[in-house]
Amino acid sequence: MRAALSVASECAPLVKTGGLADVVGALPGALAPMGWGLVTLLPGYPRVMAALGGAHPVMEWAELFGGPARLWAGTGAGLRLLVLEAAHLYERPGSPYLDAEGEPWPDNDRRFAALALAAARVAHEGADGWHPEVLHLHDWQAGLAPVYLRAGGPQGPGCLFTIHNMAFHGLSPGRRRAALALPEAGFNPEGYEYHGQISPLKAGIVYADHVTTVSPTYAHEITTPEFGAGLDGVMRAREGAVSGILNGIDTDLWNPATDPDIHPFRSPRGKAANRARLMAEFALPEGPGPLCVVVSRMTGQKGLDLLLEALPALLSRGGRLAVLGTGDRALERAWRARAEAEPGLGVMVGFDEALSRRMFAGADAVLVPSRFEPCGLTQLCALRYGAIPLVSRVGGLNDTVIDANPAALLAGVATGVTFAPVTSHALAHALARLCALHADADIWARMQRRAMASPGGWERSAPDYAALYTRVARPPA
Ligand code: ADP
Ligand code: GLC
Repeated sequence: MRAALSVASECAPLVKTGGLADVVGALPGALAPMGWGLVTLLPGYPRVMAALGGAHPVMEWAELFGGPARLWAGTGAGLRLLVLEAAHLYERPGSPYLDAEGEPWPDNDRRFAALALAAARVAHEGADGWHPEVLHLHDWQAGLAPVYLRAGGPQGPGCLFTIHNMAFHGLSPGRRRAALALPEAGFNPEGYEYHGQISPLKAGIVYADHVTTVSPTYAHEITTPEFGAGLDGVMRAREGAVSGILNGIDTDLWNPATDPDIHPFRSPRGKAANRARLMAEFALPEGPGPLCVVVSRMTGQKGLDLLLEALPALLSRGGRLAVLGTGDRALERAWRARAEAEPGLGVMVGFDEALSRRMFAGADAVLVPSRFEPCGLTQLCALRYGAIPLVSRVGGLNDTVIDANPAALLAGVATGVTFAPVTSHALAHALARLCALHADADIWARMQRRAMASPGGWERSAPDYAALYTRVARPPA
């Protein structure tokens, strides 16, 4: 097996706030058959420390950004792990990023700089005689690793940086660079500086040997000012070293025939018992229209404010909506208040994976009206569970859902409904179209069967990652 170190701030099932965790948790299993053995480096949050088995220490710091730290090698949730234990940075309850009030921890810059620094040290020294040929870095939390790597000595392993979300730079004030042990040399517009600030996201993009993002459409979108979050120029400058590789889902974990959280089914007909349970669970009255669900982080990215505006287009046609989500307090409040007023709408605020499975299993349709979506995993889960995705035509949503236009219906390839531009008006129109399709039982059943047969696993993308690993790999010196 060839050796690669995957570095991230979350990893399912150990710690998850979104799709990043699913991807980081799935990559080792997806790449093992291609000859790449991945070890995943994670911060030692309490949940990760608790799950760590068979561990032994492999590295120590007397002082790492404010306190002692130790790196453990072990396993957890079936994965090979390196875990950075640093109580002063990670021994905190709740979200990996936010305090109890939902605010980012004020020292997030050093919390994840420490992770990047540990990655660079493993890259140079190895851990327990294990030497990675590739560093696979995910999002801004790992973005400073190539800066530390360059500062720390001769050329180390090859670096692959994956952008899961361009909206998060992980910025901190430029004056913090000494505190973060960053070299002066790179603090300029060609390096890790972003308008006087430190941008770990930019560092990853600029210094990695190759950059990937999680869908071909998003790879193009982020070269434009609309989606580039201020780094579209940097992305254009790296053209030729950027690829879009679609995420997959773990089709063993997301399998409606074997899922222990649902009434299992193999064909759309088998969804009926799940649908009935879901209606009861959200106390929704019967209606002639589709039972729709939303399972989502509640942030501006996800377009749920637009859905609040467009809702009458669904409810007036006898459609129903069950929402599960958490995030922005204002959005949570707005959805809760709306549910008080609309009998056809049920809302649960929280994060609950088992409930999300029952929702995909019972739903006729899943709504994903994102303003931008690097890849999106909910629509992939929805397809597999025979729930028709209604999605905005952006990012990975555009690459994974085939709109039920007349040509696609005729060819029998339609799997969902897509809309553009991302406005409440276009969304309302799409909801009306969804209801019309649902009213035709034959068309609907055909779309469901097609959806369930969509390729959503890693089989299409794992070879692309393996090929890139092989391309950037540098054997230990
Ligand atoms: P993002 O990473 O931007 O949140 P993705 O669609 O890639 O979007 O991944 C989100 C993942 O998190 C999916 O697996 C989705 O089902 C899950 N998820 C999001 N919100 C919730 C929630 N409130 N409860 C349970 N699962 C959720
Ligand atoms: C990010 C994106 C999402 C993507 C996930 C995994 O959270 O918002 O679109 O699917 O990362 O790559």
